[in-house]
Amino acid sequence: MSNRFVVILAAGQGTRMKSKLYKVLHPVCGKPMVQHVVDNVSQLGLQKVVTIVGHGAEKVKNQLGEQSEFALQAEQLGTAHAVLQAKDLLFAEEGTTLVICGDTPLITAETIEALLKHHEQIEAKVTVLTAYIDEPAGYGRVVRNSEGHVEKIVEHKDASEEELRIQEINTGTYCFDNKMLFDALSKVSNENAQGEFYLPDVIEILKNEGYIVSAYQTKSFEETLGVNDRVALSQAEQLMKRRINRKHMVNGVTIIDPESTYISADAVIGNDTVLYPGTVIEGKTVIGSDCVIGPHTTMKDSEVGNNTTIRQSVVHDSKIGNDVAIGPFAHIRPASVIGDEVRVGNFVEIKKSVFGTGSKASHLSYIGDAEVGSNVNLGCGSITVNYDGKNKFKTVIEDGAFVGCNSNLVAPVTVGKNAYVAAGSTITEDVPENALSIARARQTNKEQYVGQLNNKKNS
Ligand code: UD1
Ligand code: MG
Repeated sequence: MSNRFVVILAAGQGTRMKSKLYKVLHPVCGKPMVQHVVDNVSQLGLQKVVTIVGHGAEKVKNQLGEQSEFALQAEQLGTAHAVLQAKDLLFAEEGTTLVICGDTPLITAETIEALLKHHEQIEAKVTVLTAYIDEPAGYGRVVRNSEGHVEKIVEHKDASEEELRIQEINTGTYCFDNKMLFDALSKVSNENAQGEFYLPDVIEILKNEGYIVSAYQTKSFEETLGVNDRVALSQAEQLMKRRINRKHMVNGVTIIDPESTYISADAVIGNDTVLYPGTVIEGKTVIGSDCVIGPHTTMKDSEVGNNTTIRQSVVHDSKIGNDVAIGPFAHIRPASVIGDEVRVGNFVEIKKSVFGTGSKASHLSYIGDAEVGSNVNLGCGSITVNYDGKNKFKTVIEDGAFVGCNSNLVAPVTVGKNAYVAAGSTITEDVPENALSIARARQTNKEQYVGQLNNKKNS
């Protein structure tokens, strides 16, 4: 195996997306397209990864960080011009350079590896990854001679009637002999329909110079989708979604309705977990085994233990333990840590709070900026009053405390260990351990009041 390098083309503005967001940063299954490409190629043991960036340079750099080196293409003059920007970083190297577009997120590491192997085996100077597709409109077409050898690639906008009928397309992924690549790039002209320097022209240039040029056709044409507009973006989303769902099912996750289940590319799910329809799992969420998620649960960047149920609820940036029951209709907001064997019932919102082992808030509560110990019972309608309009304050509810229904705990305040708060109380001062606190107006019954009222009315 020779030295291998990769150039990722990510400087184009993506005019056809009609977006404020830079094209290669549009997410597919929650992950920016260019990140999919980098994650795929990083499995190939490459010596150098160079990403060509343009206007949105800082954003792309922030996304990829240490995973790539960068070269700036200040003006977008075409894909050949884009690769040329990597010259300073690469031209002195001996080996094979893979070039891949930042808008082809579905091409897998396996397919790229097969392309590299083919290229190295036949000792070609350039090999293009092609696919045979039903609707080739928009793609560059692979023109072969009567013996089936590759002659050139012609862009859709430059193609003749006859060439437009060709169904073998350029996927935008190539292997080059590194030295030859940079020699040939200086010979590419921009005399074409778009006035751009086309990278695929390198194939015809090297062929005319008598070098071996080759095409490697992949059978998995679904991988080769290039995302140039929102229609293709939705197709990429569908294809990637199916691929991700399939991976989880093969790993032992039950997905009741894969078509209506959305799992991010980076999520991890344990076996024997069941996902019900309408479930959306975003970001770097990790779910354990034997859980039941959904129907209609949304989770983002959260961690869930084993044997936990989360029905019709929303969970963000939080950690949830084992044997927990959440929902229906609960909202776990960022920075919450829910312990084991907890019950969070309907219409309960928890924000930036710790909720200890075995504690319960079964109905209609708001728990914000709180530290709730273990085996605490928060009755229906318990509220932490955490905000005075300017600042947020903390509520501490210690182990074994029992807070009666419809209580307000006005923070900063502590309810001591095993203490009781009587229903309907508004607690403004700390409740000591083992105490009962009643903070409500005493009830007065006015006997026979209704009769007296009626007498008054009639007189
Ligand atoms: C390109 C190929 C086409 C192929 C298709 C596959 C060319 C001329 N055409 O067309 O043969 O079938 O991909 O998806 O290469 N870019 C830059 N700088 C530029 C222009 C583009 O970095 O000056 C980047 C873009 O960000 C993108 C990639 O190169 O990631 C491809 O550019 P795009 O405009 O999408 O080319 P296509 O029209 O899709
Ligand atoms: Mg494209």
